[in-house]
Amino acid sequence: MLPRLTTARLVLDAYTPQDLPALVALLRTPEIAAWTLAIPHPFTAADGERWMADHLLNFAVRQNLELAVRLQGQLIGTVGLRITRACDQAELGYWIGQPFWGCGYATEAARAVVAFGFSHFNLEKIISNHFAGNEASGRVLQKIGFSREGFHPRHAKKNDTYIDMVSFGLTRAAAASTGRLVETPEK
Ligand SMILES: CC(C)(COP(=O)(O)OP(=O)(O)OC[C@H]1O[C@@H](n2cnc3c(N)ncnc32)[C@H](O)[C@@H]1OP(=O)(O)O)[C@@H](O)C(=O)NCCC(=O)NCCS
Repeated sequence: MLPRLTTARLVLDAYTPQDLPALVALLRTPEIAAWTLAIPHPFTAADGERWMADHLLNFAVRQNLELAVRLQGQLIGTVGLRITRACDQAELGYWIGQPFWGCGYATEAARAVVAFGFSHFNLEKIISNHFAGNEASGRVLQKIGFSREGFHPRHAKKNDTYIDMVSFGLTRAAAASTGRLVETPEK
């Protein structure tokens, strides 16, 4: 079963079929797809159903987390960890619906899932990559203690366009030394 994490303002837990209309509404605008590789635009209900159907399987097989970010019960975004067991590493990903930008929610959600990842999955390192130019995402990563590790020209491709990427990482040792990644209790 996917975990349920709580933070000061948010609950992070499994998507349910009832989330589909809210998910599609949040992803209707192009601003999320513009900065993410996997999210298409337009984003349809069929895209949402397919994506949610994979969550339980991805968790069961690889321990991958895709968690809904909820504010007072309302879906506002997604945060996730994609695990590569061979090197005890995970890739952090997140998006927040545009009406909720700038309130610290991505930072709060990402910090919680990173703490959970280190404490529950025996990870050595968590990485995250963002499109060059996505300064807000870089700022989120800096705020939760990640270090910028590199610039990767024409490193990814979306809709026939090559994309420059910026990579960030946080080792277990660095996370422990900050003392800021206190584990978020599960309910
Ligand atoms: C990136 C994203 C998740 C940030 O969500 P959010 O909830 O607004 O993030 P937070 O409020 O926690 O923090 C955002 C930080 O970026 C800063 N920021 C926002 N726009 C910025 C810009 N253009 N340049 C520099 N900093 C910027 C904010 O000021 C804030 O930093 P601060 O707290 O020091 O002031 C959200 O914009 C999003 O979903 N974007 C599209 C999808 C995406 O980029 N996902 C990440 C893929 S790697």
